[in-house]
Amino acid sequence: MRLLFFGDVFGKAGRSILKEHLPTLKDELKPDFVIINGENLADGKGLTEKTLRPLLHAGVDAVTGGNHLWDRAESLDYIARTPLIVKPLNYPDSAPGSLSFTITKDQLSLTVISISGQVYMPACDSPFAAFDEWYDAKPKENRCILLDFHAESTAETRALGWHVDGRISAMIGTHTHIQTADEEILPLGTAYLTDAGMTGPHDSVIGMRKSIILQKFRTSVPIRYEASDKGNQINAVLVDIDPASGRAQSIQRIKRKVAITKVENNDS
Ligand SMILES: [Fe+2]
Ligand SMILES: [Fe+2]
Repeated sequence: MRLLFFGDVFGKAGRSILKEHLPTLKDELKPDFVIINGENLADGKGLTEKTLRPLLHAGVDAVTGGNHLWDRAESLDYIARTPLIVKPLNYPDSAPGSLSFTITKDQLSLTVISISGQVYMPACDSPFAAFDEWYDAKPKENRCILLDFHAESTAETRALGWHVDGRISAMIGTHTHIQTADEEILPLGTAYLTDAGMTGPHDSVIGMRKSIILQKFRTSVPIRYEASDKGNQINAVLVDIDPASGRAQSIQRIKRKVAITKVENNDS
């Protein structure tokens, strides 16, 4: 069984990339399940029904969140009533979003969860304790599990990788928007990558127009951010899993420069 996971899909450029290139990628890579991190879909901040729905039609099966998931106040109801949107499970119960989502297709099933890091991140509970609590309470038949660990610190991510090794099929990091080159299968069978990167505009500073961010760093004066639309890349990861044991069989990192010919219209 094969999953394809896209690192943070950023703004109009990220959505346009996915809509235009997902059909070809699906033909080429033949994933059973497609999952994206969607916390930056709407102009880089949050997601909305309007920005997510076309991607679901294009073949996305589940969406993970992160610290930006709730940036659009008008979308909180949509997130609450859309089970395939998975929130970090170490946030308060009152934050909208599913704790997990199980995708089932052709006798195969994959459970998707998300956890947020604590280091240099908004306040949340311990990712280690939250994982253990969720794992001990989950149905035993859920053997194939993908964890999106949304975190800033590579040390925290690496440590959680060791913590979950052998208990889940794959742990893929997100949030920094910078892809790391450390994909491996950990000794007890969990596929691991510190950060999948960003599907979106890389001629930028983590998605935002670089001239604006440079001005902010040079002057320390707050300024309104704008999403970039240049330097577009797919950043993703492909994982093969043995459905009987839930152990990973292979992990392949994907980083491709792509062109967009049809730009999405609505940004929110
Ligand atoms: Fe992000
Ligand atoms: Fe984030």
